Amino acid sequence: MAIRRSMFHCAQLIRKSALASSSVPQTASTALKVQSAAVPIFQQRRWYADILNQHRDTPTNNSALAFEFTEKNMPKVNEIISHYPSNYKQSAVIPLLDLAQQQGNGHLTVQAMNKVAEMLEIAPMRVYEVATFYTMFNRTPVGKYHVMVCGTTPCMIRGSREIEAALAAHWGIKKGQTTPDGMFTLGEMECMGCCVNAPQITIADYTKGADGYTYNYYEDLTPESAIKIVDQLKKGETPKVGSQIRETCEPVGGLTTLLEPPPGPYCRDLSQA
Ligand code: FES
Repeated sequence: MAIRRSMFHCAQLIRKSALASSSVPQTASTALKVQSAAVPIFQQRRWYADILNQHRDTPTNNSALAFEFTEKNMPKVNEIISHYPSNYKQSAVIPLLDLAQQQGNGHLTVQAMNKVAEMLEIAPMRVYEVATFYTMFNRTPVGKYHVMVCGTTPCMIRGSREIEAALAAHWGIKKGQTTPDGMFTLGEMECMGCCVNAPQITIADYTKGADGYTYNYYEDLTPESAIKIVDQLKKGETPKVGSQIRETCEPVGGLTTLLEPPPGPYCRDLSQA
């Protein structure tokens, strides 16, 4: 342990002296550029978070404003609350915040959080705690399509950072930003549970309100196929959901095992039991 720690300190000292000897002032952005030039994309350190993580009052997002669920969404609200015992109705906080976000075209405002707190009879802070913990809640506005690139190891090894870089270059924006036409926000999500078809992106579609809301996975991607998918969305087309190169998650080269009917013994005929 002591050896490892001293090796770590040596590495830190070498890095510091290399930075000190550089004639370039080491602001975060210049350091990023220097690093970007020298280090392969999959090894680059992440310098910025996804979306602002602190509340800032704006004219459309502040506690002085009122928020009401629409008439169309109220039956959904009541149904969600009915899933929980009346003395545990605070358990409905996540689905209600999700519905409020869909109603807000992908933006969860502080007035919506306050409304959820009021409906569940809990302190607003309890709702803020949930909304600030889960990255699925967007507390800054997003585009009509929120494109989230998986940033976790299996997708990263299979090329998700190249996909993120390709999308950023395609739109001329950085991660966490929205295209000038308001169509796409480029974000990041961690493992979305389909590593077998890595790399993948998820796209939340806010173009049709809460009724037509979709949250689709696009898998087995390359930078080219990811750009093709977002371009299809922009044209109003419906890109193929799921794997782009196979049916589900079977081996790409075809089956290699279980090629013949299993030899048995089989389960007894349950209809005769
Ligand atoms: S690592 Fe990307 S889906 Fe699991």
